Amino acid sequence: MTILIINGPNLNLLGSREKTIYGAQCFEEYLEELKQIFPDFTLDYFQSNIEGEIINKIHECRLSHEGIVLNAAAYTHTSVAIRDAISAVDIPVIEVHISNVHKREPFRHVSLISVSCVGVIAGFGLDSYRLGIEALTKLNNSK
Ligand code: DQA
Repeated sequence: MTILIINGPNLNLLGSREKTIYGAQCFEEYLEELKQIFPDFTLDYFQSNIEGEIINKIHECRLSHEGIVLNAAAYTHTSVAIRDAISAVDIPVIEVHISNVHKREPFRHVSLISVSCVGVIAGFGLDSYRLGIEALTKLNNSK
């Protein structure tokens, strides 16, 4: 399976950013672990702090990838444009969050993108991404 993982704003600082919430591992290192867990998959990775770049990437990958694992980070709570981009493409998108957003500040309880996603995984640390890939695998197998 060919999957694109997209990380939104500030997730380039994983490993040094608010470690008590997001952990001490950088995403590039974790990605290598994911590639070992899913050796038969193509796992591509894109990170951007810019909303429009995330939207462009969602559009672009609709022809090249079979699914997206998306952590839109703070844009989760604000971006109608990312929600519309997800709705505009035919491939399944799984929304993931490292932290349990529902245990945090009230503004993080609202996701504008969930309605366009197949499902949501939150609160399992970086393992949320592995669970997102598992979810895409099951969807693909049940086609
Ligand atoms: C996050 C949760 C968001 O509320 C926050 O803005 C992030 C990361 C998470 O993975 O837990 O940047 O998406």
